[in-house]
Amino acid sequence: MSARLNGKVAIVTGAGAGIGAAAATRFAAEGARVMCADVASARAEDTAARIRQHGGQALAVGVDVGDAAQVRTLVEQTVSEHGRIDVLYANAGVGGVGTAIDTDEEEWHRVMRINLTGLWLCCKYVLPHMVAAGSGSIVNQASIGGLRGVPAVAAYAAAKAGVIGLTRQMALDYGPSGVRVNAIAPGTVPTQLVQGIWAAGAGLVAADTLDEQVARAAALYPLRRVGTPDDVANVALFLASDEADWVTGAVYVVDGGKTAV
Ligand SMILES: NC(=O)c1ccc[n+]([C@@H]2O[C@H](COP(=O)([O-])OP(=O)(O)OC[C@H]3O[C@@H](n4cnc5c(N)ncnc54)[C@H](O)[C@@H]3O)[C@@H](O)[C@H]2O)c1
Repeated sequence: MSARLNGKVAIVTGAGAGIGAAAATRFAAEGARVMCADVASARAEDTAARIRQHGGQALAVGVDVGDAAQVRTLVEQTVSEHGRIDVLYANAGVGGVGTAIDTDEEEWHRVMRINLTGLWLCCKYVLPHMVAAGSGSIVNQASIGGLRGVPAVAAYAAAKAGVIGLTRQMALDYGPSGVRVNAIAPGTVPTQLVQGIWAAGAGLVAADTLDEQVARAAALYPLRRVGTPDDVANVALFLASDEADWVTGAVYVVDGGKTAV
């Protein structure tokens, strides 16, 4: 076991699947004590159990990040269990399909509530502990959809652009207190979330089977492949660690070169 997060306590939201599960596993392998938070509590428990089986330290917490009371409980539980919070990877998110015209209000609010408000609530309740400690690293999950246009994901793109704005603003407000706040903007990683977007006919690929969709998506990337959860988790690990000690307010694009086109 290497030790890039040795002694640190990390909360990872959306840790039950995809990128969050990969990051929780990676953080624990680097010595962090990880709180695996997910609205799907059984999946969070699966991730935590896998980490423990491999000798890491992890606890599962069922939490809907859009619910302030549940987020407060997650933060209180982390502090009472471990006495500190060094890292927040605010990764939980959902896909959302629809243009500005055909997104209904309910769908707009659902996507905003989880992808933007939920991320802000996690930051809001974790930050006081980091400020009091004089250190901490927050890694917020954005998307290249928050930087560039992606067809027919109006609410999702707006929420992710909001994540980038909030990240920069918090970096300014809390930098003087020793807290770093950065964002990651991944390209396509064919998780459940992306498969749902594709199944709804949105995104840049249209094909009958998942294999064909992946192949068509890969062709759009200079590196000629789509991403893996570990591709993103590796960057989250760097930003979470002390190696990124002079990095704040940054948006790390992890996209196989897509936005360089
Ligand atoms: N996969 C991609 O291509 C891609 C690209 C850019 C950004 N992202 C972002 O990465 C993050 C993770 O996405 P993923 O692709 O791993 O998706 P995923 O669907 O595989 O995993 C998302 C996890 O978040 C959890 N979750 C959903 N709503 C929640 C809530 N209200 N409270 C707590 N947990 C909740 C889900 O239960 C799930 O376990 C999201 O924020 C997503 O927008 C993904």
